Amino acid sequence: MIAAALPAGAAQGGSPPAPSAPAPKAAATTEAPEAVLKRSCQACHDLGVITQSSHTADEWPAILQRMRSNGANVTDAELKAIQAYLIDNYSATQ
Ligand code: HEC
Repeated sequence: MIAAALPAGAAQGGSPPAPSAPAPKAAATTEAPEAVLKRSCQACHDLGVITQSSHTADEWPAILQRMRSNGANVTDAELKAIQAYLIDNYSATQ
């Protein structure tokens, strides 16, 4: 009866309004890169091994592949996410 007074989101029926919240950055993974590092990489060694290493952006992909063959339990999407995260945050400048 007084539907006009309700906020738009409360309207019944019809399709819901497009979501206005920004999509999460790491949409491809369910976990944040930091969480993957803690869960997967810390299983074998301290995170300092990673954060205090000084690899260039070019070197990280090979290291991550090596860690996966060492036994790191990460999916392809997680590997990509942490690779981007490490390149952004823990790369040596050339
Ligand atoms: C199954 C055990 C294991 C897991 C899991 C693991 N590592 Fe390692 N990591 C090692 C071993 C063993 C070394 C030392 C030998 C080597 O470098 O391969 C090492 C060394 C490293 C180094 C130093 C190597 C260098 O060349 O500077 C980095 C950086 C590193 N790991 C990153 C990671 C990251 C990032 C992850 C998570 C994706 C990870 N590790 C998961 C076993 C592991």
